[in-house]
Amino acid sequence: MKAIGITATDTEFGKTVVSSCLAAGFKYLGFDMGVFKPAASGCVRTAEGRLVSEDAELLIKGAGLTMAQHDDVVPYVLEAALAPAEASKLAGVKLEPAVMKKAAAKMINSHKLTVVEGVGGISAPLTDNYLVKDFFCDMKLPVIIVVKPLLGNVNHAVLSAYYAQHEGLKVLGFIVNGWDEENAGVLEHSNLYYYEKLTGLPVLGRLPVLNKELLTGPDMLEAGKIAAENIDLQRIYKLLGDGENE
Ligand SMILES: Nc1ncnc2c1ncn2[C@@H]1O[C@H](COP(=O)(O)OP(=O)(O)OP(=O)(O)O)[C@@H](O)[C@H]1O
Ligand SMILES: [Mg+2]
Repeated sequence: MKAIGITATDTEFGKTVVSSCLAAGFKYLGFDMGVFKPAASGCVRTAEGRLVSEDAELLIKGAGLTMAQHDDVVPYVLEAALAPAEASKLAGVKLEPAVMKKAAAKMINSHKLTVVEGVGGISAPLTDNYLVKDFFCDMKLPVIIVVKPLLGNVNHAVLSAYYAQHEGLKVLGFIVNGWDEENAGVLEHSNLYYYEKLTGLPVLGRLPVLNKELLTGPDMLEAGKIAAENIDLQRIYKLLGDGENE
């Protein structure tokens, strides 16, 4: 009945991969997992004309759910690869925050822990008046920010963390995506240092670059093991505290 929101300093930074690995990692530890995304853009149209979210597909695989639950995992699917606010205008669809919240609550209430992937960054517009942070606030979701050990990312990490906190969100910390321990040099290590020093928030894990097969195979068991070894899952669960999200 608990849930975590996953955001990132930028789009395409690995929210889906990290969320799916978190779900698989907690599942590896024996948790019953849910996954959710309030709206997905850039969805693929099947031969039957149905829109399918590739993000939802990976989230489902990570949590060990089935594609029959696709619409429970993501209530809105949009074809254009734009923020939902804009993609929905092109599709002539009105996105209702109430629909997103009701679907999220249903998923959260059905599982011990649910990983909720945001869309884009923390201030990405779901509608013109409803941003990702509003959805996370309404659902009382503590958030983890996915970052990458790249030049310039410390600035984006600090801005995202402060903005989220200013908007009333509890930020649990960061997960560094694409960590390469063997080749990590001054830049990468200094990023780790400054994420923590400048925000007072912990780095909760460092997910390595995963072989493609671990993400494209029939399940995420191996990815879950890697997540459990490289992300402090117990600490994340403890940080969620005693409160329920619903
Ligand atoms: N740790 C990783 N190992 C291997 N590939 C990764 C990893 N993290 C991300 N990728 C790849 O990088 C790309 C972007 O990742 P992902 O789709 O998770 O980003 P995102 O933040 O969810 O993007 P969006 O904002 O579109 O939802 C994908 O092709 C994904 O497979
Ligand atoms: Mg994604």
